[in-house]
Amino acid sequence: MSAAKFFEDYDRRQTQLLHEFFEFLRIPSISSEPEYRRDVLRCADWVENFLRDSGLAVERWEGEGYPVIFAERLLSPDYPTIMIYQHYDVQPVDPVSEWLSPPFEPTVRDGQVYCRGAQDNKGHCYASLAAVRALLQLQPDLPVNIKLLVEGEEESGSELLTRLLTQKQDKLRADAIAVPDVGVTSLKTPSITLGTRGMVSLTVHLHGSNTDLHSGMVGGIVYNPNRAIAEMLASLYNADGSVAVPGFYDSVENLSDEEVNRLSLEFDEERFKRVFEAEPTGGELAYPPLSRAWIRPTLEINGVGGGYTGSGFKTVIPAHAVAKISARLVPNQNPEAVALGIKNFLLSKTPPGIRAEIEIHPGHGEPLRTSANSSIAKIASQAISESCGGIPCGAILCGGSIPVISKLAKASGAETVFMGYGLDTDQIHAPNEHFGLDRLRLSFATIGRMIELFGK
Ligand code: BES
Ligand code: MN
Repeated sequence: MSAAKFFEDYDRRQTQLLHEFFEFLRIPSISSEPEYRRDVLRCADWVENFLRDSGLAVERWEGEGYPVIFAERLLSPDYPTIMIYQHYDVQPVDPVSEWLSPPFEPTVRDGQVYCRGAQDNKGHCYASLAAVRALLQLQPDLPVNIKLLVEGEEESGSELLTRLLTQKQDKLRADAIAVPDVGVTSLKTPSITLGTRGMVSLTVHLHGSNTDLHSGMVGGIVYNPNRAIAEMLASLYNADGSVAVPGFYDSVENLSDEEVNRLSLEFDEERFKRVFEAEPTGGELAYPPLSRAWIRPTLEINGVGGGYTGSGFKTVIPAHAVAKISARLVPNQNPEAVALGIKNFLLSKTPPGIRAEIEIHPGHGEPLRTSANSSIAKIASQAISESCGGIPCGAILCGGSIPVISKLAKASGAETVFMGYGLDTDQIHAPNEHFGLDRLRLSFATIGRMIELFGK
């Protein structure tokens, strides 16, 4: 067979495939918002049923949090085993008013399907499920063992799966893990991805008084929590854009020249400015943009709140202020140590009269870098290249995180590769997320072909 066979299979069944994909998309499986609990569970059921109907042996791993659906087709202990990691949960949809069509009603405009999760990651997830089903039908005797691991908490820290890794270690054993949950720079420069950054996140609560106060009556007397949060957050950075937290960069591992040369680090600044109407002026200015996003660790302020920001005006000194911050980590930074360093630094910057409470969120992730020379990296590259009309497959890194992967790779003893056809214009985590139907088809063929090659 070849990638062409998978394209043909997709085209033959396209109506059914899109019907199923849209059904999957319509389930609002937002794992971080407790109001959606029943929908997330319904989505787990959907995945479980799909995999069972495909002829795999399915297990539902439960615990506090959302179920992990594990499915396998074991032919022989002598055959190589490939595991595909996926997640069925999605990000929240706010601000909902900015969506041009309802966030959970898949709507096709210009060949793109708009829906929360269309790309991240139900597009890649559905393509993985459907490709495995197609492969089992087209080549039932292919000498390969296949495992699918589909969790429901990737977007909120993968806590349950992380807890299950030791207990399920035997089930998770594999020779290779493929993680179709990332993207490419463009479809003209297809690539595998050789690493994701780790992540830790914190919430900073500041308290100044037991109630909001009149800013005329006590202004000049109390320390305004909004001023405190602004000063504390500003103290996190140096003028050159580097992070001022002591020790933040201590264990950062530098890439060898060989590793750097392998990566496609060219950054199209003009395109970036045009597409996002944004300037590449953030981060450590001593490094070029893509090094800042892929190779260096960063610290970002994801949300700030305090006082009155509604229409009109209100002269108030708020009782509280809050900030959400997160750090992206690279090898060999330790997530716990970095989080603690940030927390202690902010506590030391808290002005007199302000009480700070700093919460380190559970469910942080470790960074992972993987080898370009593993057999799965080579096989994935071949499948990608064949599916993309023969364009050679390059290698990039991903600034984002897939929290559990580093520990999963250790638990299963497998070589890992990240892949996928996300584009930076897909608006993942933002209003109007979308994925090209051509890229759904491409994902299906690539994943099917990759498993096929792995079995040869
Ligand atoms: N699919 C993304 C990872 C990703 C981000 C790939 C950007 C390519 C480009 C993944 O689902 C994700 O969003 N992860 C979160 C994890 C966090 C919420 C714990 C992230 O990176 O913010
Ligand atoms: Mn995501």
